[in-house]
Amino acid sequence: MSIVFDVRAGDPARAATPLLVVALPSEPSTPRALAALDKRYGGALSRAIRRKDFQGGKDESLLLFSPDGGPERVLLVGTGSGDTVKGLTRAATLAGRKANGLGVGKLAFWAADLTDAALEGAVIGLSLGAWEFKELHTPVPAAKRRKPLTAVSLYVPNVRAAGHALTAGVAVAEGQRITRRLAMLPGNICTPEYLGRAARDIGKRHRLTVKVMGRRDMQRLKMGSFLAVAQATTQDPKLIVMEYKGGRRGEAPVALVGKGLCFDTGGVSLKPGPGMELMKFDMGGAAGVLGAMEAIARMKLRINVVGLIGSTTNVIGSQAVKPGDVVRASNGKTIEIQNTDAEGRLVLADVLHYAKRYKPQAVIDAATLTGACVIALGNVTVGVMGNDQATIDEALAAGRRGGELGWQLPMFEEYKELIKSDVADMRNIGGRGAGTITAALFLAEFAEGMNWVHLDVAGTAYSESDLVVMPKGPTGTPVRTFVEFVRGRAR
Ligand code: BES
Ligand code: MN
Ligand code: ZN
Repeated sequence: MSIVFDVRAGDPARAATPLLVVALPSEPSTPRALAALDKRYGGALSRAIRRKDFQGGKDESLLLFSPDGGPERVLLVGTGSGDTVKGLTRAATLAGRKANGLGVGKLAFWAADLTDAALEGAVIGLSLGAWEFKELHTPVPAAKRRKPLTAVSLYVPNVRAAGHALTAGVAVAEGQRITRRLAMLPGNICTPEYLGRAARDIGKRHRLTVKVMGRRDMQRLKMGSFLAVAQATTQDPKLIVMEYKGGRRGEAPVALVGKGLCFDTGGVSLKPGPGMELMKFDMGGAAGVLGAMEAIARMKLRINVVGLIGSTTNVIGSQAVKPGDVVRASNGKTIEIQNTDAEGRLVLADVLHYAKRYKPQAVIDAATLTGACVIALGNVTVGVMGNDQATIDEALAAGRRGGELGWQLPMFEEYKELIKSDVADMRNIGGRGAGTITAALFLAEFAEGMNWVHLDVAGTAYSESDLVVMPKGPTGTPVRTFVEFVRGRAR
């Protein structure tokens, strides 16, 4: 369920709310603006600070109950000592999650000097902190149900001036909610067709042009690489195109491309059993494109953007592609498929080539592409590569602004040896080493002539453990990188 946000001014001591969240930095003192609140709480705030029960550290929180009147509860959350926007966003996320746990239903939020960037971060944090995935559980009886967070009111210095940041924050949060939900849905529900419908839904709400193509269309487009991955599944593979026209007519768009493997068994090069269920997340890049399109349309950014998704499932069957098979991609190049589990690059090859018809000013793809990326960078950092340093730097900066850290890996010519084939123009795997780089070098063959950046989100699109501020599962990465990149280029 979405949350309704608004902004207000005034003294939080007078707020009639079941929960007032107060965000404070490391080694806080009681802010002047909260003097009345402190008094109402019998001095509990200043005492908690003085006695160091609450020190404002990262992920620190303390819940206080009103002795009488005013906000029923105050939740102190620490923003730590680093970057204020980042700290505040995280504190808000923690607050959103705690509010959901308390079942208060609504809350008010106070932090000192909420700048636009901080307000946006707080909104995103609160919304995503409260995010959970319950739709496949049998509903809890109404009497036992704790109320989900549905309404948030933030104290700002200037209500009129806050509208823009509020809209932006809600836009990004709603986008990420779509991304997380789609990623969490299992492969039997979230099929390529389902992703196509999700794209149409977004398109209808925001007047985007959406086209969902199937196997027949791909045959016509000679997408032999994509089709090889899809040849054993009975589900129709989908090539999804979403056009957002916020810019001038005829202006070159930014293209966002996503890997949409609704499930990846590995195919004939079958994956091991344990943990294979996680491969429902192999459409995280595609879900990121959908979420970003939602956010960009809500923000009404003045730029043209085209979202492109290649979606199928990688399964086994008598029709399945086999190691050694050679296929021809839509750009005419031949590929020896030595490992059917390196399927993401086969799908993206044809989708990237398709992007060329838009003559995009830049292309960014996101893909849960390689296990090697998880080994190299863990679950913290997005692997970033590309064919144009300026565009790569732009994507890295966008990720920093959005709190999705990326790190560049080299694309040295020397690595290209590794994807040579004896029988075709290239093969779809490298050797044992540098798996993330060889995957990107493979993609580069299909991004020729475009300014292209590749985000390997295999380690960052979902989490296998609870992350304090979010449950196990999809993180919403790379939505914020996409949005910040596009925002940075909008008029
Ligand atoms: N979807 C996987 C990559 C992946 C692995 C994502 C773990 C998230 C977590 C991809 O299709 C894949 O299987 N890649 C292979 C490539 C190899 C065969 C060259 C891999 O990483 O093992
Ligand atoms: Mn695979
Ligand atoms: Zn995969």
